[in-house]
Amino acid sequence: MYQPIAIAPSILSADFMNMERSIRTIEEGGAGFVHVDVMDGHFVPNLTMGVPLVKQLKKTCDLPLDVHLMIDNPLVELPWFLDAQPDLVTVHAEALSSVDLARAVAQIHEAGSRAAVALKPKTPVDVVAPLIESLDMVLVMSVEPGFSGQKYIVGSDGRVAAVAALAKEANPDLLIEVDGGIGVATAPLVCAAGADVLVCGSAVFGADDPAQAVRDVKAAGDAARTRALGER
Ligand code: DX5
Ligand code: ZN
Repeated sequence: MYQPIAIAPSILSADFMNMERSIRTIEEGGAGFVHVDVMDGHFVPNLTMGVPLVKQLKKTCDLPLDVHLMIDNPLVELPWFLDAQPDLVTVHAEALSSVDLARAVAQIHEAGSRAAVALKPKTPVDVVAPLIESLDMVLVMSVEPGFSGQKYIVGSDGRVAAVAALAKEANPDLLIEVDGGIGVATAPLVCAAGADVLVCGSAVFGADDPAQAVRDVKAAGDAARTRALGER
């Protein structure tokens, strides 16, 4: 069912010395989530933020937290993050066996959070098929995870469409999030393909007016989504 696009600005691109100001700016712009990129230096070649920051964000933010775990040992570390009660927690399919992936999703739900599985650009989308009914969201990476400011990988919208096709019968309420290189130019492509939530790092926090950038990307995505649904 159509619902307006939600923007999830990634604070990896925000000013770490003025984090609260950055959060207020995106709240003012009408963001739907705060996207928190947790990287452990092993699963991806970068080290970013962890549990203490997630706990402080939880206290400070009015927006729901969307925690994207790019870590090697989600089953070990999930309880630490769940203790902060984020709204949504995403684990990577590549970090876990299929049995452990289902365990991680169950663990997230038991803690009262929504659960998502992320797919790196080269991971077949079919890996989410066995558990799609139990998921709240699938995150389609449109860059190799690790760094903000990368270029959108052409063809990622096709992967969004493939996830949307899988979800059509099995889980029509499933949200599809896209992460990497999303801005006003790429939002229309992925939203026409079925994306509901757009992660934006540099397109929002690298803009002169981040609140306006949130509005602009959302408007570009909503227009494309409405147009695509009209054409079907
Ligand atoms: C990449 C992260 C992204 C990234 C997005 O591994 O998961 O969330 O920060 O940044 P942009 O929008 O600049 O590609
Ligand atoms: Zn992310």
